[in-house]
Amino acid sequence: MMMAEQKATNIHWHEGEVSRDERFKSLSQKGCVLWFTGLSGSGKSTIACALESALVNMGKHCYRLDGDNIRMGLNKNLGFSAEDRTENIRRIGEVAKLFADAGIVTLSSFISPYIEDRDAARKLCDAEGLKFVEVYVKVPLDVAEERDPKGLYKKARAGEIKGFTGIDDPYEEPLTPEMVLDTSELSLDDEVKACVEYLQANGLLAM
Ligand code: ADX
Repeated sequence: MMMAEQKATNIHWHEGEVSRDERFKSLSQKGCVLWFTGLSGSGKSTIACALESALVNMGKHCYRLDGDNIRMGLNKNLGFSAEDRTENIRRIGEVAKLFADAGIVTLSSFISPYIEDRDAARKLCDAEGLKFVEVYVKVPLDVAEERDPKGLYKKARAGEIKGFTGIDDPYEEPLTPEMVLDTSELSLDDEVKACVEYLQANGLLAM
C-alpha cells in the first residue's frame, strides 16, 4: 500500500532547545509505544485501560490512543476500506511517535489488521530511536465472536456490516511480535503484569 507522500516543499525541520533525554529525565521514564493489535473483542482496549491505571499508580505518565475514540476525532473522516485503515494506522503511527518522543508511555489499541501498516508504524519509531513494542492480543475468532461486547459480530454475520475484520475482511497475524497475550487463557491481571514487567525489563520505566 502507498504511504502518504510529502506534499509541501520549502519546509525545514526546526530543532528545539530541550533534548529528548532532558524530557525523559524530567519524567523519570522513557517514552515508548506499546502497540496492541488484534481482532475486535480481543481485549486490546481492556488491557490498555488496566495497564494505564497500573502505570499511573506507579507514578508513570502514559496515554491511550484507542481506535474507536480516535475515529471520533482526528480520524473521523476515515472508514474501514483497506485504504482508510492504512491511513488510520499511518496517522496513529505518527501520533504515537510524537507522544513517545514527548516522554509518554503510549498505549495504542487499534485492530491494525495489516502487517505492512504495523511495520510502517514500527519503522517511524525505529528511525527515531524510540522503542516500539508490538503486543499481539491473541484470541480465537470464535471466542471474540462469543464475547461480542458491541454486538458487531452478530451484525456482521447478519450482513448488516460489510468488511468486518475476521468475518469478511482480513486480519494478518503478527509474525514476530515482542509480546503475545492470549486473552482466552490469561487473566487481565497477568496480562497487565506481563506488560509492566516487559517495560521494566527494558528500562523504560526509569531514566
Ligand atoms: S483498524 O482496522 O483501522 O485498525 P480500528 O481499531 O481503528 O480499526 O477500529 C476498529 C473498531 O471499529 C472496532 O473495534 C469496532 O468497534 C469498529 N468497527 C466498525 N466497523 C468495523 C469493521 N468493518 N471492521 C472492524 N471494526 C469495525
